[in-house]
Amino acid sequence: MEKRIGIFKGDNPFEIAKRWMDEAKPLELNDPNAIALSTVDKSGMPNARVVLLKTIETDAFIFYTNYASAKATEALGSGKAAFVLHWKSLRRQIRCRGFATREEGAMADEYFASRSKLSRVGAIASKQSQVLESRQVLMDRVELVRAEHGDALKRPDFWGGIRIEPVEIEFWADGEARLHDRFKWTRSQTADPWNIVRLFP
Ligand SMILES: Cc1cc2nc3c(=O)[nH]c(=O)nc-3n(C[C@H](O)[C@H](O)[C@H](O)COP(=O)(O)O)c2cc1C
Repeated sequence: MEKRIGIFKGDNPFEIAKRWMDEAKPLELNDPNAIALSTVDKSGMPNARVVLLKTIETDAFIFYTNYASAKATEALGSGKAAFVLHWKSLRRQIRCRGFATREEGAMADEYFASRSKLSRVGAIASKQSQVLESRQVLMDRVELVRAEHGDALKRPDFWGGIRIEPVEIEFWADGEARLHDRFKWTRSQTADPWNIVRLFP
């Protein structure tokens, strides 16, 4: 296997993802951590939507959401999720596929507490992905949460993190004349060592 150099340097995919994220942060117009998250429902029908990737751990990626939402029901129901991250500024992409589990411990509490008061009220008030009769119903729920909870806005049980432990991560960078560079990290189980290959563009 050829030695990877420059932006692809290193054997640890989480380190490369962090490095690329740091490079993208000052360049992207907004939300450099926006990922298109893909899940499948019970019938195998795929689904996708954007969420914010909040943490790159040493062995996993974490985003936060409502556990009763379609995405959480699908990710936790199947135990699997995939995402893609595209930085227009860098002309780079990261793709990831892996196993999805809840992250509802101290880390989720800490992240919830770090959010603005309005975001916390919104998260408690929103029955995410359920049918909403009118905007007014939502605003009434927001007022109710404000009145009931005051400043004691603790993370509710139905809201928290989802951790994706990858078995596949691909790094893609734009190349001249569409001769792009692609390197893929794969492993059968999360405890296995990574196998790294270069792919034709
Ligand atoms: C830039 C951006 C960031 C978003 N971040 C989140 C997020 O971190 N968590 C979340 O639950 N929804 C987020 N959303 C909303 C989701 O795209 C989606 O509309 C919502 O979560 C409901 O999805 P679902 O019905 O498939 O569960 C974001 C949307 C955009 C456009």
